Amino acid sequence: MRVSMNEEIKRGELLYSGKAKELYLTNNPLLCIQRFSNRATAFNGQKKSEIDNKGYYNNAISAFLLQYLEKQGVSTHFVGLLNETEMLVRRVEIIPIEVVVRNIAAGSLCTRLGLKEGAKMEQPVIEWYYKSDALGDPLINDDHIASLDLAKEWELKEMRKLALKVNDILVPLFRTLDLVLVDYKLECGRSGHGILIADEISPDTCRIWDASSGQKLDKDRFRQDLGDVEAAYREVYDRLAEMFGEGEKNAR
Ligand code: TMP
Repeated sequence: MRVSMNEEIKRGELLYSGKAKELYLTNNPLLCIQRFSNRATAFNGQKKSEIDNKGYYNNAISAFLLQYLEKQGVSTHFVGLLNETEMLVRRVEIIPIEVVVRNIAAGSLCTRLGLKEGAKMEQPVIEWYYKSDALGDPLINDDHIASLDLAKEWELKEMRKLALKVNDILVPLFRTLDLVLVDYKLECGRSGHGILIADEISPDTCRIWDASSGQKLDKDRFRQDLGDVEAAYREVYDRLAEMFGEGEKNAR
């Protein structure tokens, strides 16, 4: 699917409004506008707030990472940045499964398996969660997915392959930035050209620790009331901006 960035893109109807983003149709049926807001929620929307400039940082960080993945041969929905808080993306049908990749024990894995935060996984752990706000995104397995027909067997295989490939690319990238990619959540979309990585990859959807100090530089600062949430997102943005040499560093 070829998309020219030269054509004029006109915003259409609001297609979907999520907890932190909006998705708009455009005059091109193959494309959508993904808008990042400053809204922050945690614990399935029970905790709510606004984080200054979060939309800007998450838009830019996702653009850096999705573009980098594309360059390394991973298909994503990313087409181009439109402005400070919006990107142009391919229109896909989101598969209702959140793909979580874990390199280090944290969050719900510690609670579920009694592991200590920071314990290294012997190999990346892939988990599936059913995307359902009403049910609180429960952990599911391959048989649940088949029974509910959430994805076909070949799609699940492809999603696992994609997630492991993304991990092989992003873990070393973060390491060069003196960051540890602890875990993260991916969403996949069906397109006319196979399965793409969709949604966002940002401090909202990843756990990212400073490799030297161990400081948390992600949404856990909001979830756990650790303070300096905006500064943490800015830090991740600054390191990526330095590496990719784009955008205005410390623009905010
Ligand atoms: P968890 O440890 O709470 O299961 O989270 C695993 C990863 O998934 C972590 O990087 C945060 C991310 N995540 C989301 O992006 N959205 C969510 O709704 C949840 C619960 C986690």
